[in-house]
Amino acid sequence: MDFTENESAQVVAKSFETTDDPRLRELLQGLVAHLHAYVRELRPTTAEWEHAVEFLTATGQACTDIRQEFILLSDVLGISMLVETINGTDAHPGTTASTVLGPFHMTGSPRRELGESIDDAGAGPVCVVEGRVVDTEGLPVPGATLDVWQADHHGFYDVQQPDHQPAGNGRGLFTADAQGRFRFTTATPSHYPIPTDGPVGALLRATGRHPFRPAHIHFLVDAPGYQQLTTHVFVADSAYIDADAVFAVKQSLVREFVTVDDEAAAAAHGVTAPFTLACFDIVLARR
Ligand code: BEZ
Ligand code: FE
Repeated sequence: MDFTENESAQVVAKSFETTDDPRLRELLQGLVAHLHAYVRELRPTTAEWEHAVEFLTATGQACTDIRQEFILLSDVLGISMLVETINGTDAHPGTTASTVLGPFHMTGSPRRELGESIDDAGAGPVCVVEGRVVDTEGLPVPGATLDVWQADHHGFYDVQQPDHQPAGNGRGLFTADAQGRFRFTTATPSHYPIPTDGPVGALLRATGRHPFRPAHIHFLVDAPGYQQLTTHVFVADSAYIDADAVFAVKQSLVREFVTVDDEAAAAAHGVTAPFTLACFDIVLARR
């Protein structure tokens, strides 16, 4: 078969017929079909195609051990959220919605006791986050592990500022108690821009898009026999709550972070007044 505009997708798809793994074959042939249809429809010039290759090359070159520009690209294109929505917990009614992992999850969060602060720098207005991990019948999931991470009050993760923030700042690995309860203290999160000093930032500037995410705290929750949950709790009155640069807000994940100016309540939570209090119960799906 000649390589013509109309036959190109079939010619290339056929070259993958030798792929042993049927799922890999399906994914590659589907990719070829959609990419060729895109090129036929939008007819990029050679210069435009070279520009696209340069952009992808720069995206790869911006990646390091602690920076994942490709995840960021997937995030701003809404692909991360689409994959998460297809594979996450949305299929299990009554469970906590999932949302993107993002590029700042690090394996090896410091293990901390319930009630401990994850704000090692002590730099932000104090916030207490508490809740329960339960199943869809409302029964506790004792011993669930909660990996939490967030940007500091100025909107930076520890790994973005290794000279300013101690490693592990804003991160903690907690174990829920026998009633499935968890509690930690942190710096009240604020909205922040995703990194804009790389190719993804250039893409946002070229298209007039803003880089901001509404204030949130990340959770990765695990328990034997339950589906792992990747989610966030979002601050209800945060800037950009209706305009997340990575499309990750789900209304069911938005909570009021209430200001409590009461010494007795503060003492009961092991902090001083005023502080903000957020309650976030987490419902896991059985495997
Ligand atoms: C984050 O929330 O950490 C994040 C998610 C997507 C892109 C950039 C940052
Ligand atoms: Fe984040």
